[in-house]
Amino acid sequence: MSKGETVAQAPDETAAGTLAVTDSRTGQQYEFPITDGAVRAMDFRKIKTGPDDFGVLSYDPAFLNTASCRSAITFIDGDKGILRYRGYPIEQLAEGATFLEVAWLLRHGELPDQAQYDQWVHDITYHTYVHENIKSFLQGFRYDAHPMSMLCSTVAALSSFYPASKNIHDPAERDLSIIRLLAKVPTLAAFIYRHIKGLPFVYPDNDLSYVENFLSMVARMSEPKYESRPVFTKAMEVLFILHADHEQNCSTTAVRTVGSAHADPFSAVAAGIAALYGPLHGGANEAVLRMIEQIGHPKNIPAFIEDVKAGKGRLMGFGHRVYKSYDPRARIVKRLADEVFQEVGMDKDLEIALELERIALSDDYFVSRKLYPNVDFYTGLIYRSMKFPTDFFTVLFAIARTAGWLAQWEEMLLDKEQKISRPRQIYVGYGERPYRSQLRK
Ligand code: CMC
Repeated sequence: MSKGETVAQAPDETAAGTLAVTDSRTGQQYEFPITDGAVRAMDFRKIKTGPDDFGVLSYDPAFLNTASCRSAITFIDGDKGILRYRGYPIEQLAEGATFLEVAWLLRHGELPDQAQYDQWVHDITYHTYVHENIKSFLQGFRYDAHPMSMLCSTVAALSSFYPASKNIHDPAERDLSIIRLLAKVPTLAAFIYRHIKGLPFVYPDNDLSYVENFLSMVARMSEPKYESRPVFTKAMEVLFILHADHEQNCSTTAVRTVGSAHADPFSAVAAGIAALYGPLHGGANEAVLRMIEQIGHPKNIPAFIEDVKAGKGRLMGFGHRVYKSYDPRARIVKRLADEVFQEVGMDKDLEIALELERIALSDDYFVSRKLYPNVDFYTGLIYRSMKFPTDFFTVLFAIARTAGWLAQWEEMLLDKEQKISRPRQIYVGYGERPYRSQLRK
């Protein structure tokens, strides 16, 4: 399909009209254009009571109704449960694409042809090694350091190895930084895994695919060539695709915000990793497993659900800020999880998870609030069956999301309307008051 021949348009793309506003303080009337279903917040600054008035602000804590950019990368319709990368449905990409093909698509806007793809895979494969000093850097962490703390710090540290990466307006430097980040984040992640386990680091193997190489760096022991189980390779490839981008979520906003100050991309991506670490964002898949461990036995589920309904905690892996009918990624992951569990078998924790899901989907508390399982409800279970430690799950998410962060970072840089991110506030503190020290002098 050629550009412009899209199957379905994002809503209201061409709708035009105006918003008429009357300021009851002054009786003054204003008319603001509505473009793409949005009014410009800066137009409200024209609404003033007098020349010294700053103008009306829009107040939107947590950006519930504020578009911070125009983006052509990812389209989500939360009510209908639609997710598309560059117009391609996530279901089709998960079915047929590779993660690196999707990473190219996210960045360039079109699918790569064979020559472009081969070059892209080659470039990423040949940048997977990290400077040897990174190993000593990692050795400085305690054995029980959280892998996301380690990943965040080592990705930030990479910026010191590539000082030219701060030349963000040079397309060749951007290109190199993007390739380096996509190539090295899995290596860092695998080294972190080996550090936690007290195992020697395994260097990248250029004969393997992106996913196979990552699994090799994680799991290879004395065998000369690592061969991953096909069901795990497939699961990882699909999970990476599903997690590759999700438009303006918390971590992507962090990357764009730090990037808007013209920091280098290693520092911007480190900021994204820091945001992803939080249990309300990427940390949710880890929180799901911790919740299941805490429940301990299927017989404890009813009491746990009652506690959640009484506001004594949340059912982790349920609910989403954007998806209010279902999370399309969750459907794909559930099928994938079934395939994996068929091969590796069920256990007590999996039984608890499936029973939690069954009860929550039929309980009015969750149904009325449109709380459905999100992608993280199932991903943690798959990662666990692959024997990844629970606190490593978010690292796997971060490897995939690096593709989206970089595409969004570059789109932000090339967007002429963007400037350094700098929200306003409504000051609610004291007025001026004289300084009177409370200290003993
Ligand atoms: N368990 C129990 N109640 C919930 C949950 C939950 N998981 N999520 C929301 N609610 C309730 C909430 O208490 C509120 O109830 P009430 O109207 O009676 O006050 C109502 O549902 C609306 O909640 P909200 O906090 O206004 O919803 P939100 O859009 O701000 O939060 C969320 C979205 C994902 C932070 C939240 O649903 C949550 O904390 N879920 C659990 C954590 C989780 O699984 N996060 C992963 C998100 S998917 C990965 C990603 O894309 O980052």
